[in-house]
Amino acid sequence: MKPRRLRNTPTLRKMVRETRLDKSALIYPIFVIEGDNIKEEILSMPGQFRYSVDRLNEVLTETLASGVLAVIFFGIPKEKDEIGSGAYAQDGIVQQALRYTKRNFPAIYCITDICMCEYTSHGHCGILEGKEVQNNATVEVLANIAISHAQAGADMVAPSDMMDGRVKAIRKKLDDNGYINTPIMSYSAKYASAFYGPFREAAGSAPSFGDRKSYQMDYHNTDEAMKEVLLDVEEGADIIMIKPALSYLDIISNISKVINLPICAYSVSGEYAMVKATAAAGFVDEDGIICEMAVSAFRAGVSMYITYFAKEIARFIDEGRIG
Ligand code: PBG
Repeated sequence: MKPRRLRNTPTLRKMVRETRLDKSALIYPIFVIEGDNIKEEILSMPGQFRYSVDRLNEVLTETLASGVLAVIFFGIPKEKDEIGSGAYAQDGIVQQALRYTKRNFPAIYCITDICMCEYTSHGHCGILEGKEVQNNATVEVLANIAISHAQAGADMVAPSDMMDGRVKAIRKKLDDNGYINTPIMSYSAKYASAFYGPFREAAGSAPSFGDRKSYQMDYHNTDEAMKEVLLDVEEGADIIMIKPALSYLDIISNISKVINLPICAYSVSGEYAMVKATAAAGFVDEDGIICEMAVSAFRAGVSMYITYFAKEIARFIDEGRIG
């Protein structure tokens, strides 16, 4: 056996590839901020911006032009309160972004993050009693957020809060209101991760005290990811997400071997920031590691990939570098 025989020419190497990528699998995260005429760069994520709704045109046009058809919105409201009421407000920031996008870019598939941390004054992902995040009270609010997003035009909702039982509650609320065809992509295995640091700067959502370890998962655990995923499958999730991506390829691989739902990985803000910083220092080939990171997620078993590099990856696919 001579494995090198199949590595002889670019055509042959491509022919025998075990992993294939397609632009239709890419999802691009977009930060929308309340206000006018805003396009501000996120300090820890060079090349990523916060857009006001009146400037969304620019990024949506670029996204479509790259061939990426799906986005996930994150909202940054002007006002926050204890109970995160901005998250389900009729004219909340994500709701406005959805109406704008559905009206002006009907080809774009709109996913929304369902969580409270960007909307609460304390920065936690739920309703507090003392210093504790209350599970069931939060789940009720999450279902209300989901319905308000669906009413504003969301094509899919993605709960990222890690409360117990939220998928079931959201499914019921969507069904009861006639949104029987709105899929739920559940952040099922979401680890308490330092990789979210830049996102929290981007969205102003860092907790004002404590951390998220009482709801997000401990990164020492593997079996627990399966427990979370199985619960979400039972509760009616349509797509399972694992997050972050890069340090969690083992989890993706385990889950994708036994779960027969589409699996999505979220390559998070810290992964993006690390690539940008090290490439800016001249230490690595930026394009090269973007390609390698993306392919590793698909090789591990995802069929969908949320990444701040979505537009770049689409270009690399066009150029035949990967795919
Ligand atoms: C909301 C949410 C977070 C991310 C996605 N949804 C932040 C967090 O849990 O602290 C992180 C995404 C990223 O880092 O790119 N809960």
